[in-house]
Amino acid sequence: MPPTSTELPVAVFDSGVGGLTVLHECLVSLPHEDYLYLGDTARFPYGDRSPRELLAFARELAGILLDEGTKLLVVACNSATAAALPALREELEGRVPLIGVVRPESRLAAAATRSGRVGLIATPATVASGAYERALADASGGRAELHAVASAELAPMIQNGGEVDERTVECVERACAPLRGARVDTVILGCTHYPLVRPVLQRTLGREVEIVSSGEAIAAEVERELDAAGLSAPTDRRGDYRFLASGDPEAFRRLGTRFLQLPIAGVRHVEVVPAGPVPAATGAAA
Ligand code: DGL
Repeated sequence: MPPTSTELPVAVFDSGVGGLTVLHECLVSLPHEDYLYLGDTARFPYGDRSPRELLAFARELAGILLDEGTKLLVVACNSATAAALPALREELEGRVPLIGVVRPESRLAAAATRSGRVGLIATPATVASGAYERALADASGGRAELHAVASAELAPMIQNGGEVDERTVECVERACAPLRGARVDTVILGCTHYPLVRPVLQRTLGREVEIVSSGEAIAAEVERELDAAGLSAPTDRRGDYRFLASGDPEAFRRLGTRFLQLPIAGVRHVEVVPAGPVPAATGAAA
């Protein structure tokens, strides 16, 4: 018997292992759901790629996950959400509900800010898209102002590094300096990797600054969306979680465990269209 819609997994995709920080929150908040995660490790990083390229990647990954079977698609990657979500939403209309990270995070930030000065740290692609400016203006009714900092180096540094070291601290300090200067009271972590250095960010920004990350925002959004569509799994069960990766499955498993903070058993390889090299850094701040 084919599975009913409620029995299908929630599918999550990202440029690599970073979206596992989003999956982590979903697994903790909604443990009764099944999950299927796809990490595009073969084409990581996304943060310096063009909107056109990111839309093509997002289309391809969404297609793979739809073929596998899913009842809800989560674009956990901020760069892909910022570049591709409106077009992808139109294309998938009537086939599967779609959630991106920009709007849920912006809503949390609009609710958290008292001064109306909100900071964003994200990849150059995400900052250049202007997606957070638009989403925050919508969410706050134009009352909040965004101060955005692009960091080309922080995500790859977190991914390639093991322990947090001095270089990471310096990179975080460079990203936070303009936000401290702008006296923001809320900061959006606009990249899947940043929750791994949250303590360094909080220490640098000061404890009075509220940090908003996509994991917490997305888990609540997934729950709302599934309830509204009548697609929630029964809560008296424990769901499972499975992984696909476009790069080396064993490397994904090893690296991913640090981001997921839960065991990763098996990872299946999937083919994607090879991408050109990542363009040289844009020279954006931090
Ligand atoms: N998932 C990406 C993002 O959130 C991580 C960074 C990258 O791929 O460059 O933007």
